[in-house]
Amino acid sequence: MKASAEIFNQIVNERRSVRVYDAEVPFDTDAVARSIDRAILSPNSSNMQLWEFYRVRDPKKIAAIAAFCFNQPAALTATELVIVVTRLDHWKEHAKHNVDHLKKQFKEPYGKKEEMALNYYQKVMPLLYSHDPMNILGFFKKIVATVKGISGLTYWQVGYADLRTIVHKSAALASQTIMLSLKSEGYDSCPMEGFDSRKVKKYLGLPGGAEINMIISTGTAKPEGIYGERFRLDRSEVVFEV
Ligand SMILES: Cc1cc2nc3c(=O)[nH]c(=O)nc-3n(C[C@H](O)[C@H](O)[C@H](O)COP(=O)(O)O)c2cc1C
Repeated sequence: MKASAEIFNQIVNERRSVRVYDAEVPFDTDAVARSIDRAILSPNSSNMQLWEFYRVRDPKKIAAIAAFCFNQPAALTATELVIVVTRLDHWKEHAKHNVDHLKKQFKEPYGKKEEMALNYYQKVMPLLYSHDPMNILGFFKKIVATVKGISGLTYWQVGYADLRTIVHKSAALASQTIMLSLKSEGYDSCPMEGFDSRKVKKYLGLPGGAEINMIISTGTAKPEGIYGERFRLDRSEVVFEV
């Protein structure tokens, strides 16, 4: 095994969800900034980067958000919180950022490859990401997908719920990068989905199109902050050879 794999293995194995942090241990807040910078490098769907990261460092604000997390100890005792947010509502701006980035790289006249790349963000993304919360558009897109599916391959994930899933998948990968990075920096973390999402959204002043992916608490674990031995099903239950 390569030395880098050994280090990675150690980070993965030592990361545990920690519910009680030690406020007495000094904390380097730059480690969180570095971890978020690394998270931004996470793979994400079509490089649309429909995510945001909100840092909460003020103890009063941590306490306010911990209350929305039903006062879970993982939030109450946190040294810092990172709230990972999905921004499906930013799809138009982010598609344009991608177009601008591509145009900066391409030289005119554009060839077939360049046209295809631009087309992806100027035509395919609008087709996929146009949505309404009532899923009326999604309903019609699903009919088109179904008809296409009769005669060949089709892309099914075109409804409103599918789009929400797409942005949450990418945000969850960023969340994992944050947690593994924090461990590499010598700190612990806990991902949380147990919170009143409406209250957290209101607290952050977020609009309807934004959703909370996860709230990540961080700090240094107290021994009692790790709730028991790690448990995973036997790999034969979950790993299959195809
Ligand atoms: C999406 C997600 C949401 C979670 N929500 C909570 C939570 O609200 N509170 C909590 O204490 N742990 C939460 N956890 C932590 C899990 O309980 C924990 O990852 C699992 O028990 C495995 O333990 P380990 O992380 O120590 O390996 C969450 C984990 C994930 C991935």
